[in-house]
Amino acid sequence: MIEADLIIHSAGAVVTCAGDPSAGPEAALGILKGGAIAARAGWIVWVGPQESLSREVLPLPSAVTIDAAGGLVAPGYVDAHTHLVFAGDRAREFSLRCGGASYQELLAAGGGILATVRATRAASEDELVELALPRVRRLVSEGVTTVEVKSGYGLTIEDELKILRAVRRLGQESPVEVVGTLLPLHALPPDAGDRDAWVARMIDELLPVVAGEGLARFADVFVEQGAFTHEEARMLAAAAKAHGLGVRLHVDQLTAGRGAELAAELGAVTADHLETITPEGVEALAKAGVAATLLPISTLYLKCPSYAPGRVLADAGVRLALGSNCNPGSAMTESFSLALSLACLGNGLTASEAFLAATAGGAAALGLGDRGRLEVGLRADLVLHGAPSVEHLAYHLAARHARAVIIGGELVHE
Ligand code: NIG
Repeated sequence: MIEADLIIHSAGAVVTCAGDPSAGPEAALGILKGGAIAARAGWIVWVGPQESLSREVLPLPSAVTIDAAGGLVAPGYVDAHTHLVFAGDRAREFSLRCGGASYQELLAAGGGILATVRATRAASEDELVELALPRVRRLVSEGVTTVEVKSGYGLTIEDELKILRAVRRLGQESPVEVVGTLLPLHALPPDAGDRDAWVARMIDELLPVVAGEGLARFADVFVEQGAFTHEEARMLAAAAKAHGLGVRLHVDQLTAGRGAELAAELGAVTADHLETITPEGVEALAKAGVAATLLPISTLYLKCPSYAPGRVLADAGVRLALGSNCNPGSAMTESFSLALSLACLGNGLTASEAFLAATAGGAAALGLGDRGRLEVGLRADLVLHGAPSVEHLAYHLAARHARAVIIGGELVHE
């Protein structure tokens, strides 16, 4: 008998995301109808049919037992792109943008990202943690069990470190698993002085401290007109790799800039946004094995003319991840469920493809081989959804489907 301290039984289906991807997305979901799952000390120890549960699994006296009552048991969502540590808000700018002002005009006038930089610089590390914790809790209530969080609203050495220390504390002070990303080249601050010298400081002085303190797994650049160039991204990527950090890039978001090709050239782990990617860019990502992170909420929020071509990317064999992109300027929301639905409605994925991007795809993109699927030996990051099928999760727009959320074997939300 296998001993367990957590058992979820009587599921309508267990969606393992551990099926055969070569047989298509439906098969890759690896759905076990009428299944159950058991974990011990935070790790999955058994997944199988309901009728085998009592024969094969022995609940320990302290075991938590959850009746799924016909619901869907699935891996927790991996939110693969957020900027959720920030102070202040941009509600006024939102209204101005709705009335016709553009995101880039606001940035060029010292607003946009720079408005958030001012507010974030003025906040202490403790204040940033206090502001971010409710955002994290809202994500968890949606079924997110791992979240990537970037810096990028400090843009001085001290302020970027402050943000990344706050990011690390989120993982300590909330149940969610947090992955930090250093985003020093997000916007050029007005007090930067000489541009080249400022970029060099971010790369030569900040990045080694971040890597040395283990504050981030990745380094990132916003490659865009009015933000940073290919050459600056090349310099940051070289330093990141030398310090053992993976490279991620914001590319081809507002204007087509051969950003996907750059991500391929730099061996980036992910290329994120991609609203304006070209067919050549798609081919480059596929060839280089760079994953694409879809961020459809910001496409909607910034009223971009087109969504990233998720359908084309999937058909070309590009691995996909999904992010809420929670941030005060281009995606002021913690609704991961909305991201899932928009991945279908906007990016053109089927519900199965979107769900795989939201779970196994995100875990793979972040290099986290211990999660994103429900298999023996992996982390017990599980969600019990009230929905009857994966299709329903995407179909019922912005609904709260998660009835229970378990992270590392602990019931953290119900
Ligand atoms: O991923 N595009 C750049 N960065 C964020 C937006 C940040 C902001 O507007 O505050 C994004 O959309």
